[in-house]
Amino acid sequence: MQRFDASKLKTLGVYTSGGDAPGMNAAIRAVTRTAILHGMEVKGIVQGYVGMLNGEFETLDLRSMANVIQRGGTILRTGRALEFHKPEARAKAVEHLRAAGIDAMVCIGGDGSFTGAHALWKEHQFPIMGVPGTIDNDIAGTDVTIGFDTAVNIALEAIDRIRDTAASHDRLFIVEVMGRDSGFIATDVGIAGGAEEIFIPENPTSIDQAIDRIKRGMERGKKSSILVAAEGHKPGRAYDLAEAILQKAGFDAKVCILGHIQRGGSPTAADRILASRLGAEAVEALRRGECDAMTGLVKGAVVVVPFDNVIGVKKSVAPELVSLLRSLAN
Ligand code: F6P
Repeated sequence: MQRFDASKLKTLGVYTSGGDAPGMNAAIRAVTRTAILHGMEVKGIVQGYVGMLNGEFETLDLRSMANVIQRGGTILRTGRALEFHKPEARAKAVEHLRAAGIDAMVCIGGDGSFTGAHALWKEHQFPIMGVPGTIDNDIAGTDVTIGFDTAVNIALEAIDRIRDTAASHDRLFIVEVMGRDSGFIATDVGIAGGAEEIFIPENPTSIDQAIDRIKRGMERGKKSSILVAAEGHKPGRAYDLAEAILQKAGFDAKVCILGHIQRGGSPTAADRILASRLGAEAVEALRRGECDAMTGLVKGAVVVVPFDNVIGVKKSVAPELVSLLRSLAN
């Protein structure tokens, strides 16, 4: 973690970046209200790094945070600005930020967003505190990210519905969930939804293993099965898995890809509380002069973790969760 002189901290910027996640608005609210309570002015940066490059800022006050805690998406909007990979673009962004009087910022996003924030500190000593917001839960330094619980619950509701129709028709289903290169959503949804097998990048399952599991279930009288596939599972995604299972075993699997449905909707209570805690602490940490770091939740406690221990660090699904899923599916 780095330190800066926080005695001149008067105006705080806040932005959301990368894929939106339910609970981001609760985090924006926590950041804004905590900063205002401490006498700061708050400016929202529209669409993350895109808004920084275009100089698009809007003043946020206590009232503008009314009725946002329950809303999905992000009221500041978000984006993926490829141009920000260039140092000259980052220099232009800092010019815009300084012209707007912004002294420090809170970045709500994932690994890519934090990489941009880290570069702004290294190249321009611009102080930023990160708040982990992504449905994927693939951020090191925190046990859980904002949006993950909501995404799991949305996917779980879909699986429960699929189970009704799968059981009625004696069918095999493969449900594909999001997660980019990680299997956190697939694992939690698999356990909570009683899936027979999961396909995740961290703990690859072969087609033969999956077929074997389905066959053993059938021998015990199971008439329908649900397999959950993480989108980042290699090789192949849900349709490829279905084709391979058909070719190898003759089982006709129905495929359901949940996609962006998992990213929308009202955040769960757990996500709203997490976002409120991590957002408020981000402001408190900046007030203490801490920056180039992220707030996180570890074993129930709010912590501040240096970006050096977060960016590019792999967080993996606990193998015992995968074993648990398999033993309970027996
Ligand atoms: O990182 C969140 C996430 O939803 C991933 O799970 C997914 O792979 C990706 O974003 C999709 O991104 P986009 O909405 O830009 O297609």
